[in-house]
Amino acid sequence: MNKLNHLAIIADGNGRWAERRGLSRSEGHEQGLHKIDDLLHWCVNLDIGVLSVYVFSWDNWKRPKAEVDALINLANKYFDRYKEFGENNVRVVVSGTRERLEQDTIDRIETVQRETAHCDGLILNLCANYSGRREIVDAIAKGARTDEEITKALYQELPPPDLILRTGGHQRLSDFLLWQSAYTELVFSHTLFPDLSLAEIRQIKKGFESVTRKFGGVVV
Ligand code: IPE
Ligand code: IPE
Ligand code: MG
Repeated sequence: MNKLNHLAIIADGNGRWAERRGLSRSEGHEQGLHKIDDLLHWCVNLDIGVLSVYVFSWDNWKRPKAEVDALINLANKYFDRYKEFGENNVRVVVSGTRERLEQDTIDRIETVQRETAHCDGLILNLCANYSGRREIVDAIAKGARTDEEITKALYQELPPPDLILRTGGHQRLSDFLLWQSAYTELVFSHTLFPDLSLAEIRQIKKGFESVTRKFGGVVV
């Protein structure tokens, strides 16, 4: 039976969730952040060690300024909750480039990472201002050339994701964890991210546990 240790989620569908209720897209993003809180509890209970969540892509800067500003404000408020994460033994790391971010956001990222660095429970890897292509380019710019060197020079030294779940109905990676996903199981769900339930996560975990993972080899 496979062990689901690293679950990665492309948290898509917040905008549509809000639009369907006549709410602003930003309200959908707020609901999305509440869902991450639910996921933290679920992962602890399901013995999942690492949760990566894609919350803001480098390409999301193309969106209207009001939406980008709302997303950054929400992220800032989230990072400010470092005490609560520490009390719950959640180590928070933030993957992405710091380019285009205001200094106060960079300071908050450094604070949440520093103040939770001692936690040895769940690792929450927030992929914010993130691009998988850029992560590889940044690794090469640091001098990495070989497979092992690039793996070591990525934003985080984490095990590769066992499973990537994309909510929101689209079947694409949208520049998420391109290097790390070489042998990752992919699950695409029509559920919009704010509607994601524990029942669905349990079902996805169960499906993963019985998959034959071969990593290019032969399983007899
Ligand atoms: C995902 O939700 C969150 C971000 C990309 C920031 P979307 O905002 O992409 O939601 P949809 O896809 O428009 O519904
Ligand atoms: C991917 O969603 C990025 C995040 C969930 C943060 P998008 O909504 O930006 O992706 P596309 O544009 O549909 O590919
Ligand atoms: Mg989307």
